[in-house]
Amino acid sequence: MKLIVTGGLGFIGSNFILQILEKYPKFKIVNIDAQLTGSNKKNLQSLKNNNNYQFIKSDINNTKVLEKYVPHCDVIINFAAESHVDRSISGPKPFIHSNVLGVYSVLESIRKHKKKLIQISTDEVFGSLRKSSAVENDSFNPASPYAASKASAEMLIKSYVATYDLDIIVTRCTNNYGPRQFEEKLIPKIISYALKNKKIPVYGTGKNIRDWIFVNDHCDALQKVLFKGKRGESYNISASNELTNLQIIKKILKKLKKSENLIKFTSDRLGHDYRCSLDSSKIQRKLKWYPKTSVNDGLDSTINWHVEKNSK
Ligand SMILES: NC(=O)c1ccc[n+]([C@@H]2O[C@H](COP(=O)([O-])OP(=O)(O)OC[C@H]3O[C@@H](n4cnc5c(N)ncnc54)[C@H](O)[C@@H]3O)[C@@H](O)[C@H]2O)c1
Repeated sequence: MKLIVTGGLGFIGSNFILQILEKYPKFKIVNIDAQLTGSNKKNLQSLKNNNNYQFIKSDINNTKVLEKYVPHCDVIINFAAESHVDRSISGPKPFIHSNVLGVYSVLESIRKHKKKLIQISTDEVFGSLRKSSAVENDSFNPASPYAASKASAEMLIKSYVATYDLDIIVTRCTNNYGPRQFEEKLIPKIISYALKNKKIPVYGTGKNIRDWIFVNDHCDALQKVLFKGKRGESYNISASNELTNLQIIKKILKKLKKSENLIKFTSDRLGHDYRCSLDSSKIQRKLKWYPKTSVNDGLDSTINWHVEKNSK
């Protein structure tokens, strides 16, 4: 199989590429990444001599590059996105460029060359939920420019499927954690600050809830979708590990044997979703995917990876 993975130098994309090439060493992967915030070339250093892996530094809006590689692939998996909510609040424009216009460019290319697309979306498109967990057909209620850009991309995709009958699947996942995540995100930030005995900023009361999934479990789910997912469908992916931000910080501090005095409350994030949650029974029922990693084990391996990285 020949895959184009976009955004493959980032957190989830790099873990996905490593997982695929380990399991299917004969697959060919072209990674198109613009090397923006979140990317790290070291994430895929181990593949530098692998003939089945090729890195192309490019924006997904570059139609010449898409024109060169898309005709030769079987599937495009689009991870490329600006991904940090805080940066979308301070400056939304790059989010529209990568997450909306970028998806438009990819859509035009797969329309022309009749290729299959898997779009990686997020639980944040559904916005804040007090009690229930979102199912695939729930309506969107984005609360940040990031969430709105991802929801916009999904709308565009829906219209392309309806109008041009394209072969597209959308996946939406909850908050990922694991090795290779950039430090601007909550868990790497907690670990890195704690290791340096720096105060760890926590928005508002720290009671906002997120549903955490270990990145390898997300990548496993994406493999199921790649091989067995049904054209035109969307799949929610979650491991049902709901924790408040304070709970996750305290767990990490305990594992690192650091004092809770490092926690410092700050004013709340604008438009902060109280709780994000997905119902993943569809992918479990239809594609027989189940998460395997407990929060305890996932956090241990994430912490070990960051401790090792920080000691270099
Ligand atoms: N991290 C999470 O918890 C999470 C949860 C659900 C969904 N997602 C989605 O998964 C995908 C990957 O997220 P991540 O956490 O790995 O993000 P990341 O920020 O770690 O990586 C994103 C990658 O995309 C690249 N990129 C951005 N814009 C680009 C463009 N215009 N052209 C080419 N490359 C571009 C960046 O250089 C970077 O390498 C995103 O689409 C995100 O919305 C992430």
